[in-house]
Amino acid sequence: MARKFDVVILGAGAAGMMCAIRAGARGRSVLVLDHAKAPGEKIRISGGGRCNFTNINASPKNYLSSNPHFVKSALARYSAQDFIDLVNRHGIAFHEKTLGQLFCDDSAKDIIRMLLSEMEAAGAKLELQTGVTSVEKSVDGFRIVTSTGETIEAGSVAIATGGKSIPKMGATGLAYDIARQFGLKLVETRPGLVPLTLDPGLLEKLALLSGIAAPAEIRHGKTAFREALLFTHRGLSGPAILQISSYWREGDEITLVIEPDRRIAEDLKVARKANGKQLVQTALSEILPKRLAQFFAEKHPAATKLADCSDKVFDAVAASIQEWRVRPAGSEGYRTAEVTLGGIDTSELDSKTMQAKSVPGLYFIGECVDVTGWLGGYNFQWAWSSGHVCGEAL
Ligand code: FDA
Repeated sequence: MARKFDVVILGAGAAGMMCAIRAGARGRSVLVLDHAKAPGEKIRISGGGRCNFTNINASPKNYLSSNPHFVKSALARYSAQDFIDLVNRHGIAFHEKTLGQLFCDDSAKDIIRMLLSEMEAAGAKLELQTGVTSVEKSVDGFRIVTSTGETIEAGSVAIATGGKSIPKMGATGLAYDIARQFGLKLVETRPGLVPLTLDPGLLEKLALLSGIAAPAEIRHGKTAFREALLFTHRGLSGPAILQISSYWREGDEITLVIEPDRRIAEDLKVARKANGKQLVQTALSEILPKRLAQFFAEKHPAATKLADCSDKVFDAVAASIQEWRVRPAGSEGYRTAEVTLGGIDTSELDSKTMQAKSVPGLYFIGECVDVTGWLGGYNFQWAWSSGHVCGEAL
């Protein structure tokens, strides 16, 4: 006889575990299946091992989706504060690092332990190292065949198997396959929150800069992020680049504004007045890291001693630092992307429950849905919020 559960959740990541907690607490019999050896592997490695578990400012404007209104209901019904309350109830110490980003003081494993203990208290069952071979509609629900050959009956199924990022960690396209199988539309997927690469010619010119970080504003069209920029041996990275990467498309230009709070031409004029004999490169190295100062000074052979430079030369130097247009060659792809953009088209789902409108009993939550947050705890918040509202409904 097949085992029977009210709810089967595929994927024991952030969204799946949150959904299990809520559904179990409502008295539903819940089974969570995951092919990995351990639950919440992405939680474990997130935030440099300290998990940036939410953002106190999380609001719909921090999310990319074909329908920017879709996130509103779930975020309102399970907010960052609701998750913070849960973390507080478990006595987990945390701090705000920057820009509303909350991190564990100690370890991301505290969050995993918290979720597992909540699942246990809610009576939700977790089975690891169990893949899913098929999900089919049955007369009164769904029939799931697992990699062990077992058939499990479920009243409802929640798909929480995440996106495609970091395949090395077990990411699969299962959610998209199931959506396709049931005739649901998908928004094309692509890597998000990912370093951008440069073509070999430009990379060679920038070789000297690898490892340098600087405050920057990175612009793409009307979107701009002010955070750190990092030059790497493959191209550009750092939080500002990861943020803009979710908006960038192949072939587009981005603008780098290094030291956006400074008026570099004005700073050079002041330096010229104080010490005309100083080299432009030396004056720049009081504003920028040394190698960056050298790089920009060398771009302007006319910029030698400050006293020999016209205001126009200073404007040109400043523009090369603060209006630097770059056309990235590509991105590092799913290998290093923190998230997957696109996914299950939100028009197919009820925003209050995450249920597929055309397939009663089938739900999609977390990263597999066409909702992607900015860097800074927003993606976990989406996983908690979508998982919670689904757990309330199925
Ligand atoms: P998630 O990927 O967490 O879980 C999916 C689960 O399904 C996994 O356990 C997987 O094993 C399982 N699965 C997949 N395919 C399966 C199959 N075929 N059969 C069975 N099981 C299957 N976000 C944030 O807000 N703050 C942060 O600090 C970070 N940091 C960060 C660092 C790194 C390196 C990465 C890659 C990502 C982040 N993120 C983040 C993003 C965050 O990790 C991500 O948005 C959430 O984990 C998504 O939660 P889900 O539950 O949707 O998927």
